Amino acid sequence: MTLPGRDSGAVITFDGPAAAGKSSVAQRVARLLGMPFVSSGLLYRAATLVAARSGADPRDEAAILAALSSHAITLEPGLHENRVRIGGHDVSAAVHTDTVDANVSFVAAHPRVRDWVSAKLREVPPPFAIDGRDMGAVVFPEARHKFFLTASARERARRRVGERSADLEAVAGAIARRDQLDARQSEPAPDAQHIDTEGLDLDEVVEVVLRHLAERGVVPRRAAAPGDRRENPERGDGSAREGSAREGSVPDGDGVDA
Ligand code: DC
Repeated sequence: MTLPGRDSGAVITFDGPAAAGKSSVAQRVARLLGMPFVSSGLLYRAATLVAARSGADPRDEAAILAALSSHAITLEPGLHENRVRIGGHDVSAAVHTDTVDANVSFVAAHPRVRDWVSAKLREVPPPFAIDGRDMGAVVFPEARHKFFLTASARERARRRVGERSADLEAVAGAIARRDQLDARQSEPAPDAQHIDTEGLDLDEVVEVVLRHLAERGVVPRRAAAPGDRRENPERGDGSAREGSAREGSVPDGDGVDA
């Protein structure tokens, strides 16, 4: 469902497997374009935490949906970061634990949980950059700019070990298991631009993305010359206008409620 008057084409999607760098890239690109960044994984993680706290089995869809209906989960997209709250309490850090990692794929596999997350994401007013697994293929198929980031499981494990102190082999094993479990909902959109990030650092991947966007007339705010007439991702009709994306169409704290 797309809300009337909302241009869901003005969404930039970043999909790909775990630890492919999607959220860092999406966040950086969003900031450069002056638009909010949205992390869809945070909603799946919050649903997993709610299920765990309610004693629901991650494989029991009905029990998870019952738990979701009795908790207010709020996602707050922002220019710099996303916050997720359960009943008003900030759980943004609590949803990034090994326990949530181990269970989130089971929770995210349930079709009605996916519907719940997708509906909440479609309430966020464009433009924004969003990362996930099925953003380009399923949730925002009409998005005009779609990227699918990949890297080998080993490289992704190396990156994740840098984020959390853990053993490389154990992390590589956990990522490979998650790849398998997430495979069904991680199909790239047919019109996604694939970027192999193997051996590239964050700046280099962002550069590749910006190059693709520039070829389509989307340029960072500071790079736009005065009077330069480019497509603005906030405009649904693709019409030319001066400059580039405006700053902060979803102010920090403008949350999406469960
Ligand atoms: O991007 P992430 O690691 O925070 O995502 C956590 C989990 O949520 C991941 O294992 C798969 C699931 N997920 C999903 O199925 N679909 C999405 N759009 C985003 C995340």
